[in-house]
Amino acid sequence: MLYKYLITGGAGFIGSTLANHLSKENSVIVVDDLSMGKEENLDSNSNLKFINGSVTDEALMEEVLSNNTFDYIFHLAAIASVADSVERPVETHQINFESVLMLLELIRKYQKDLKRLVFSSSAAVYGDEPTLPKKEESVIRPLTPYAVDKFAAEQYVLDYNHLYGVNTSAVRFFNVYGPNQNPESPYSGVISILVDRYKKIQNEENASFMLFGDGSQSRDFVFIEDVIQALLLVASEEDALGKQFNVGTGSAITLNELIEVIDEALGVRLSVKNESEREGDIKDSVADISRLKGLGYKSNFSVQEGMKKYLESE
Ligand code: UD1
Repeated sequence: MLYKYLITGGAGFIGSTLANHLSKENSVIVVDDLSMGKEENLDSNSNLKFINGSVTDEALMEEVLSNNTFDYIFHLAAIASVADSVERPVETHQINFESVLMLLELIRKYQKDLKRLVFSSSAAVYGDEPTLPKKEESVIRPLTPYAVDKFAAEQYVLDYNHLYGVNTSAVRFFNVYGPNQNPESPYSGVISILVDRYKKIQNEENASFMLFGDGSQSRDFVFIEDVIQALLLVASEEDALGKQFNVGTGSAITLNELIEVIDEALGVRLSVKNESEREGDIKDSVADISRLKGLGYKSNFSVQEGMKKYLESE
């Protein structure tokens, strides 16, 4: 065993991919309440222990943190839906913000030798500020409870480094996609929804895709394998201490172009229904990834390459 890891939200899309990868050689504890994640996302592996519980459960978190000595903690548990945060600001605040502050205090108390806490923040913190690409030091304009909580939690996480010497870093995810992303919510990542519709078409079921707006909006879609590379670098590099990092590819593609890429890869034509633009949607988003590159990161998957690998794995 090399190291001991705690991954909150470890049964979700990003968390389970990370947990499965790390548990090949390390000991991993996953805490997840299965609100979005699924236990079957996790490999059955004796190095991987799953705890079904919420990061808001203080007694549970105290038990986990006081009885284990972790080398690394990835805090990925969150209500990931922006729309949910608008509908239920108090409840999402408990999960997306209060659990982070509680975790920081527990780490300060019980995890003196922690090499790194990595917190998952979001490109949502930039809001609709139109300057592109988004740099970590760009203007912050969090427009939803989700974005406000992510930004506030991220600042606390980094302040715990400056104030108390806790080893912390944060990542701001752009649009992450790949296998095991749950397409069931209307607010799931657009690529998971697209892949679900294409699968239905291939099975000769009736399916169409609702395109919000005219499809000219663009996003920096980053493949899960690049995201895992980024998380491991941010956790291990000394230079990442006390800092936040954009995680993207550095280029964007429009939804219309994305649909063309998948049409071509699969040799089918998606039936697209145009709907009005989704409220609060931002037009364009692309990450400046120079800070992450400074740690040695290289995006290995253009959206064409990532989609090819994703579709082959389905
Ligand atoms: C993403 C994040 C969000 C974050 C935001 C920050 C996901 C799932 N969401 O939102 O947490 O706050 O970045 O910038 O990663 N679309 C359709 N049809 C659909 C679904 C989506 O046309 O069925 C469109 C949306 O209107 C949007 C685009 O596809 O224009 C991307 O949507 P989505 O994958 O939800 O991501 P973001 O809106 O970028």
